[in-house]
Amino acid sequence: MVQVNENYLKLKAGYLFPEIAKRVKKYSQSNQTSNIIKLGIGDVTEPLPKACIDAMGKALNEMGTSEGFMGYGPEQGYSWLREKISEHDFISRGCEILPEEIFISDGSKCDSSNILDILGKDNSIAVTDPVYPVYVDSNVMTGRTGNANENGTYQGLTYLAINEENDFLPEIPKNKVDIVYLCFPNNPTGATLTKEDLKKWVDYALQNKSLILFDAAYEAFIQDNHIPHSIYEIEGAKDCAIEFRSFSKNAGFTGVRCAYTVVPKKLLGFSSKNEEIDLWPLWNRRQSTKFNGVSYIVQKGAEAVYSQEGKKEVRGLINFYMENAKIMKNKLQIAGYKVYGGENAPYIWIKVPNKMTSWDFFDFLLQKVGVVGTPGSGFGLSGEGYFRLSAFNSRANVIDAMERIINI
Ligand code: MLT
Repeated sequence: MVQVNENYLKLKAGYLFPEIAKRVKKYSQSNQTSNIIKLGIGDVTEPLPKACIDAMGKALNEMGTSEGFMGYGPEQGYSWLREKISEHDFISRGCEILPEEIFISDGSKCDSSNILDILGKDNSIAVTDPVYPVYVDSNVMTGRTGNANENGTYQGLTYLAINEENDFLPEIPKNKVDIVYLCFPNNPTGATLTKEDLKKWVDYALQNKSLILFDAAYEAFIQDNHIPHSIYEIEGAKDCAIEFRSFSKNAGFTGVRCAYTVVPKKLLGFSSKNEEIDLWPLWNRRQSTKFNGVSYIVQKGAEAVYSQEGKKEVRGLINFYMENAKIMKNKLQIAGYKVYGGENAPYIWIKVPNKMTSWDFFDFLLQKVGVVGTPGSGFGLSGEGYFRLSAFNSRANVIDAMERIINI
C-alpha cells in the first residue's frame, strides 16, 4: 500500500497564486467579464530584451548544425556564464565571488526549496512574516515544521513580524535559530535593508553559526545607491550566507527560466557529531545528481544580459516597471491609501482601508472595479490587513487600474 508524504496534509490552502487565479477565473466566468486587470502575481509583461532574443536565436541555429550541436551541459552551468556573473554582479561591487561558487539553475523558487536537501531536518528556522510563501511551504512539505495552528502559522517555525511599527524590518530573533530566510528588496512589502541592517544579521549568523538564505531576486530594482544588492557586500557573509538570484524579474525570464545560486566555498555546516562540513560539495553533489542544467540556448540568453546592449535594455525594463510603481504609489496616496514599498522594489504594499480583511479587500476590488491584487494575509499572519499590488504590467493597464481604484 503506497503511503503519502503526510507533511503535505499539513498545508492549509492551495499555493497562493494558483488560488488567486482560480478565484478570478470563477468570478470572470460567472460574471461573463474579461475586463479584469491583473496586478496579483509578480509576473513580467514586457517583451524580452533584443540582445537576449538574438543570442538565443543564434544559439538555437548553432544547435541545428553538426559543429554547433550541444548535448548535456555542465550541471552547474557553463563557465562562460558563471564568469560573466562573477565579474558583473559581484566583483564589480567588491564581492569576491568566484565563478565556481555560482550554480546556474532554472529558478530561485526551486533553488530556495531545493537547498533544504543539503540541510538537516532538525535545524530551527526563522522566516519573516509576511513572507514569500515558498519558504514556509517547502519547510512544511519536507517535515521541518509541526502542524498548522488555528491562525495558519506552523509549529516549530520562528516568525519575525514585519509591519508598520518596525518599518517592515525584521528584528534579530531573541532565540538562536539555525537558518534564517531573508528576502530583500522584500517580497511582498517592498522594504529594503541598509548595509548596517544587514550587517546585524551577518554578525548574528556568525555568532550563532547560523545560515542566512538570502533571496535577492529583486536587487535590480534598487534605485538608492546606498542599499546593498548582495549580502556579500557585508564582510563575513561568505562564511554564513547563500544567495539566490534570478533573471526572471530583471530580464523578463519568468517564461524562459534562468537563475543562479551562490554557495561560497568557505561556507560550513555541521554534522550531528559537530564536525565541520563544507556546504559547497554537498550542493554540487545535489545538483550533479538531481539536475541536468539549464539549456544552452537559455544560458546564452542569460549571458547576453551582461552585454552592453543587454545591460541597457534590462535597465530600460527596470525603469519601465519602476515608473509603473511610482505612478501607482502616487495615485493611491492621492486617493488616501497608506502605501509602502514601490521605491526600490516592484511591489506596492497597501494598508487595507476601513478595517477590511485582506481577502475582503481582494473581493471588493475584483467585484467593484475588476482589479486583482494579492491579499497580504496570503503571505502570513502579519500580512493581514495589507494588500500587494505588482508593478509588472503594461503602462496602459497600470493607469487604467489606478483610475478605477481612485474613482471607487
Ligand atoms: C510573486 O508574485 O510573489 C512572485 O511571482 C513569486 C515568484 O517569483 O515566484
